[in-house]
Amino acid sequence: MGRYEQQRSFLKSNFLEFKHVKTDKIKGLPKPLTVKPYSSSSIMIDLPECNEDVVKKHNIYDCIKDRRSTRFYSEESLRLEELSYLLWATQGITSTTKTGLTLRTVPCSGATHTFETYLFIMRVEGICQGIYRYLPVEHKLLFMSELDEIDQKIDAITLDQPFVPNFTKKAAVMFAWSTIPYRSEWKYDISAHKKILIDIGHVSQNLYLASESIDAGACAIGIYDQKLIDEVLGLDGDEEFILFLGAVGKKRR
Ligand SMILES: Cc1cc2nc3c(=O)[nH]c(=O)nc-3n(C[C@H](O)[C@H](O)[C@H](O)COP(=O)(O)O)c2cc1C
Repeated sequence: MGRYEQQRSFLKSNFLEFKHVKTDKIKGLPKPLTVKPYSSSSIMIDLPECNEDVVKKHNIYDCIKDRRSTRFYSEESLRLEELSYLLWATQGITSTTKTGLTLRTVPCSGATHTFETYLFIMRVEGICQGIYRYLPVEHKLLFMSELDEIDQKIDAITLDQPFVPNFTKKAAVMFAWSTIPYRSEWKYDISAHKKILIDIGHVSQNLYLASESIDAGACAIGIYDQKLIDEVLGLDGDEEFILFLGAVGKKRR
């Protein structure tokens, strides 16, 4: 077997094979929850309603043209309105179907939306440093924990970065997207996993473009310590684990 055979095979469409698979959906197993539940005693933070007034660069052509992975940030904090916009742009719910599927600002295979968004907040006006989870249905933040020495933790999580060492801790926010694969496996079984990876690319690109439109810069981060970040966020690493990261901060002038 060639060195890459298995990995390359994963990249290919296995639709013909999949056609014969009896998925959990076909078997009549219950549909997984659309979003992760939370305790009613959780501390919640209201986000300002998303408003296009935050946008400085309105021209989509310019946002696409000017987008660059940004690893140097100013000391400026993000405003809460801006964070609200970035969350809406990456996972915001814009419609719900009669069958209860959420349709969002990003496309997603079969509207399965397997992602949860966690935030490591360093500098957002009116928000304490710490870890939060985005609740897309309520458009609120759920406070998870304060994090002592958040910058050291982020350094440890983002390992040795190849371009600019230790840049992530200087961002205003680090987005960490987890996947709950069963939301897609229930419907797509063995063909779920390639779809999940493609789906996250759309989320990340919206973070890039929305950041560009508010004079902020983003950088996707695929190099991270899987075990450590799952542990820090209390994820079991199997039914839910981190898939991708994105750092955002205001651009240096
Ligand atoms: C899947 C993926 C993973 C990436 N991981 C990292 C990373 O860990 N660290 C980093 O500094 N940049 C990372 N990047 C950013 C790329 O290095 C960057 O997109 C590339 O150099 C092209 O530059 P541009 O985005 O400015 O066009 C990643 C980008 C993608 C799409």
